Amino acid sequence: MIVYLNGQYIPRQRASIDVDDRGFLFADGIYEVVHSYEGHLFQMDAHLQRMEHGLCSLYIAIDDVQGIREVAERLIVENSLTSGEATVYVQITRGSAPRTHGFPPAGTPPTVYAAAKQYIPQRDRAKEGIAAILVPDTRWARCDIKSVALLPNVLARQRAIEAGVADAVFVRDGVVLEGTSSNFFGVFNGEVVTAPKTNYILPGITRDVVIGLCSEIGVPVHETPILEHQLGEAEELFLASTIVEIRPIVRLNDHPVGTGTPGPVTRRIQRAFRDLVSDLKSSTSV
Ligand SMILES: Cc1ncc(COP(=O)(O)O)c(C=O)c1O
Repeated sequence: MIVYLNGQYIPRQRASIDVDDRGFLFADGIYEVVHSYEGHLFQMDAHLQRMEHGLCSLYIAIDDVQGIREVAERLIVENSLTSGEATVYVQITRGSAPRTHGFPPAGTPPTVYAAAKQYIPQRDRAKEGIAAILVPDTRWARCDIKSVALLPNVLARQRAIEAGVADAVFVRDGVVLEGTSSNFFGVFNGEVVTAPKTNYILPGITRDVVIGLCSEIGVPVHETPILEHQLGEAEELFLASTIVEIRPIVRLNDHPVGTGTPGPVTRRIQRAFRDLVSDLKSSTSV
């Protein structure tokens, strides 16, 4: 496996990070995950834009964020991932410097790491849906930054695994926000509802795609808070993310959602999403 580290393409075994890297010491950095279909990067512009937002919010200066596109494309080719599906992981930290909370001296180069690997989609989960639990949101108040500080997400996912379900959904002050690594949607009276973009959710790229697809297929969407006590009235629930695309939730906190099977609105959105991916796969640019 060939990875990218600070300007070089090297075998994975030779890639090493300094123990003073601020990503290691402080989780002082951001990341992105991009989905590749047959070598075509899905929504790369949007991922780069979100990366710029994160870097700017953390005051990490990078000369050439757009250059990450070329890195991702080369990793796909170098690792023979131009057929099938793959994910490209990119992480940028504030670089390496002796440990002190304040920023390192100006000019300290950020650490830039990227790796691509094969992704095998779990079609059964997309088709049959998953069970999930609600958990209290213990994260910080800048969830709009795709920070590598994912400990609350890790603990929530582990809690789900130990409860025998696939995922957990964060609830803050009675408001249902998002999954541990996905955005959350409900269908009420045939209309899609999802949390508005605030500092309490990650502005998901797939979330925007879903909203766009809903308007194309004529399903009304409301970006308004979903309250925990309203969940019993939801006809359908689903999660959306770069990696899993659209995943129905058919059981929540051990209660069936709607009929307990993926609902018609979710399935329509899934079909529209598949069509979008098919168009991407048949496009000429790689
Ligand atoms: C907390 C959180 N919310 C939402 C998402 C979905 O974002 P995207 O659609 O850009 O993958 C992710 C993805 O990792 C996430 O970690």
